[in-house]
Amino acid sequence: MLVSAKEMLTKAKAGKYAVGQFNINNMEWAKAILLTAQEMNSPVILGVSEGAGKYMCGYKTIVGMVNGMLEELNITVPVALHLDHGSYEACYKCIDAGFSSVMFDGSHYPIDENVAKTKELVKVCAEKGLSLEAEVGAIGGEEDGVVGTGECADPDECKMVADLGVTMLAAGIGNIHGKYPENWAGLSFETLDAIQQQTGDMPLVLHGGTGIPSDMIQKAISLGVAKINVNTECQLSFAAATRQYVEAGKDLQGKGFDPRKLLAPGFEAIKATVKEKMELFGSVNKA
Ligand code: 13P
Repeated sequence: MLVSAKEMLTKAKAGKYAVGQFNINNMEWAKAILLTAQEMNSPVILGVSEGAGKYMCGYKTIVGMVNGMLEELNITVPVALHLDHGSYEACYKCIDAGFSSVMFDGSHYPIDENVAKTKELVKVCAEKGLSLEAEVGAIGGEEDGVVGTGECADPDECKMVADLGVTMLAAGIGNIHGKYPENWAGLSFETLDAIQQQTGDMPLVLHGGTGIPSDMIQKAISLGVAKINVNTECQLSFAAATRQYVEAGKDLQGKGFDPRKLLAPGFEAIKATVKEKMELFGSVNKA
């Protein structure tokens, strides 16, 4: 059964480790992540962006697929199914469809409107037993070829949003989605430290987990990060393994064109990436 992310993140924050959110794109992604979590005895969060939601034929399809996997694959570790960077409307759709967690990304609204909408969703999620992630300070990334440097959130605004009763808080600390540019300045631990001092026990979320060096990940966890989002890295490892298979001409040998064979190296590559991240984040054997 899907669970809210609240308990796993409260434990992670107290135990100084982080739970990985791995974004899913299809059956192979969901299966690879769930099986790895079970093998590692680790809690896990499956992330679904609005775009991936559309691609996978809507939120209800995803809930059906993931619930089916939990049962058929005998997954017993805690699993949350979470909307990633959701609009106000998408949050309601996911709540109705049976997600166990949602992120309301109100970072592009003026702070007062972000607060008002977040407040409303805190109430709805509490009634239904879902966890809710809020965001303060936009997280940069590539948009139309322009790479943003990643803003830093205002610790006072973080406190204001944390006090609304959200379950976990994403705050920009110089992190960005996708690959980091060569001249990236790194995470701002000064900002993270100030945010944690203001928000206390609130589990903090680090987006843009792809490509952040291990020592920065560990330092971020020591300063209160309890959830780390990884998306691009699984896509890169899937693509590299698939490329290798095709370039070696394996799809042309025997029944190598069978999707169950063609997609197998990519599937294993996702598993390896997820395992590596769970080890780095410290969530192994924390189920
Ligand atoms: P990356 O794609 O950089 O790993 O970021 C994932 C993320 O933060 C999803 O919200």
